[in-house]
Order: sequence, then C-alpha cells, then structure tokens
Amino acid sequence: MSKLDIRIEPCLRAAPAALPDPLGFGRHFTARMFTRRYSAGRGWHDAVIGPYQPLALDPAAQVFHCGQMVFDGTKAYPRPDGNLNLFRVEKNADRFNRSAARLAMPEVDIDEHVQAIAELVKLEHGWVPKQEGAALYIRPVMIAVENTLEVRSSRNFLHYIILSPVAPYFSGGFRPVSVLVSDSYVRTVRGGTGEAKTPGNYAGSLAGTEEALAAGHQQVLWLDAVERRYVDEVGAMNIAFVYEGKHIRTPALSGAILQGVTRDSLLKLAPDLGYTVTEDRIDIHEVMRDIESGTITEAFGMGTGAVIAPVGSLGYRGQNYTLASGEAGPVARMLFKSLTDIQYGRVPDPYGWTRMVEVAAAKARPAVRV
Ligand SMILES: Cc1ncc(COP(=O)(O)O)c(C=O)c1O
Repeated sequence: MSKLDIRIEPCLRAAPAALPDPLGFGRHFTARMFTRRYSAGRGWHDAVIGPYQPLALDPAAQVFHCGQMVFDGTKAYPRPDGNLNLFRVEKNADRFNRSAARLAMPEVDIDEHVQAIAELVKLEHGWVPKQEGAALYIRPVMIAVENTLEVRSSRNFLHYIILSPVAPYFSGGFRPVSVLVSDSYVRTVRGGTGEAKTPGNYAGSLAGTEEALAAGHQQVLWLDAVERRYVDEVGAMNIAFVYEGKHIRTPALSGAILQGVTRDSLLKLAPDLGYTVTEDRIDIHEVMRDIESGTITEAFGMGTGAVIAPVGSLGYRGQNYTLASGEAGPVARMLFKSLTDIQYGRVPDPYGWTRMVEVAAAKARPAVRV
C-alpha cells in the first residue's frame, strides 16, 4: 500500500459547538480541504491538507471552457462507538478513476486517494452532525487547470477533496417523491459520458428538472436517448421497481447509466433478505401497465444522498400513475434499514464494505486549536 506524504497546514477555524440548523444537504463545509497538483512529466505532487478556501484559477483554465472535470460523492457515517465508517470508499475511488479516464484525465492511486479522505475525515471529525441519520458527505473533485482555449486535454490538473456535514435526506420521515418521466430531454447516451460523474451530465439535466419542478414534481425519470422508451435513471439516482412485494427489477448498466455504489450494494443485499433481483432493459410502457395492474408494488431511487428515495407517483404524457397509495413501501423500508445499519456500524458488516476511521480517542482528549 502506497503512503502519500501529506503536508498538514495550520488551520485556525475549529468545528463549531453547534452546527447550523437546518443543516440541509451540501450547504455547509468544514474548515479544511485536501489539494494535490498534477503536471505532465511530473505526475501528482504537493499533497496538502490546509484551510478550506476559494480556488484562485485563471479565467482561461480549461475547466471553464472544455468542462474537463470529474467528481464523486461518498459519506463518513458516525458509529455508535464514536468512530466513523467509510463505506465502499475504494469502489468510489475506482469510479472516480473511470470518470477521469473517460474525460482523458490522469488517474489517482486508489490507496493514496483513500488515505487523503481518511486523514481529512479524521482531522474534521468534530464536524460530524450528532443528529440520527446525519453524516459527513465527502466530495472528491478533479479539474483541468492549464490556461488555454485549445480543445485538447489539459496538462495540469488539481485534485481536491471537501467535506460537508449533512442532515438526513428525509429529516421529516421517509417521504415518497413525485417523478416526471421526461420525453422532451435526455440525460446522456450510450458511448457518451453517462457512466462518468462529470458536470456536463448534470448541467444537461437542469432544464428538464426545472420543467418537472414547475409541473409540481420533484424528480425526473430519464429514458434512453435513442428510443426514448427504456428507463435509465431517476434524477441523480439509479432506479428499481418492486414486483409483487418480492422481486426487484432495475435497468441493466447500459453505458449511459452511472454505476451507483448504492445500487450495487442493494443488489447484493437483497437476495440475502429473501428478494429476487433482475437487471435488464425496462420499457416505460410496460412499467405504466404494471403500475396500473398493481404488479409493480413499489419503485425507488438508490443513491448515496438519500440511500433510498421511494417514488410515490410517475407522471407520463399527461397522466399520473400512483404507486402503493403514494406511501413508502415495505421493501424500500427493509432495504433502507438493512443498508444504513451496516453503513452506521449498528450491525456487523458481513460484506467487508466498511472501513473504520478511529476518532473516538481523539474526541476524549481536550480540543487543541492549531
Ligand atoms: C446520475 C447518478 N446516478 C446514480 C447515482 C447513485 O450513485 P451512488 O449510489 O454511487 O451514489 C448518482 C450519485 O452519485 C448519480 O449522480
């Protein structure tokens, strides 16, 4: 395992005695950040954990013109013993590298990336919210910083990691969301960048999302870009349908869909809880028919933010299809509890998905400001 030499700079800001209330999701950031630079010929260098601060970038930096940027998202979960759990962080790091490769950017060493996350989280453990179901969201990013308007891959990059204390996604209970099936916009296309976590995919989804919000929905269900017929994803989540309360069906990874870590974990967990699982091509017309006949009993989104977001209704071509009387269903509840129990370390982890960051001893010592 490689050991990254990270310079730790002084930071005058300590974690506040109380975090802002309401905390929301991704609105507040901790006092420190990790940064590291890359230059062609030299590789990665100057790994630093220092104060969280604005980036000074040249207006010609390629990230602003080519959009050469990737990011990822994972969380540190507070455990009952006072330590923190990172969840499948190597899998996220691997996706970060696959995103980088798709955008013609350099990869990072997975052990070094995970070490940077673990060291930053350890230093910032005071920012972990105390609220049940809250966590420290981890956002690794890589951007192209060479100053040129030429359309080609950059020679210089910045890799940084920031942390955000986040409230539980459903602070007022497990509320189903209303979803609009978009047939006017598509998110990505096979062979495009749908499997990469890159801002262009999200920027391209905003007009459709605004349209859904204006029509009284909360999320968009994206169909495939070629036939506009097969289900891809819901908002920034993977989607699953439950048949007769026991069978879970989700779109197969087609090349246009982000390979979600939550999706993968739930598909591994579900058979151990007695559910059957299939991954295939899902026709939206079939979905509407199966909702109407009552064969589909639940639908839900899967992603790091909410873990599971139950779908209460689907709007498609002027008609609204309600699922399970608009309530969160038993399968969504069971999967949510089973996965979050592992993530928060409330039960043993038989899958080897969690990696503990020890902070309990540090908490017991009086706080020292550096
Ligand atoms: C487009 C998209 N799909 C699916 C997901 C779910 O992925 P994960 O479970 O790894 O958070 C995300 C979130 O990262 C996303 O942005």
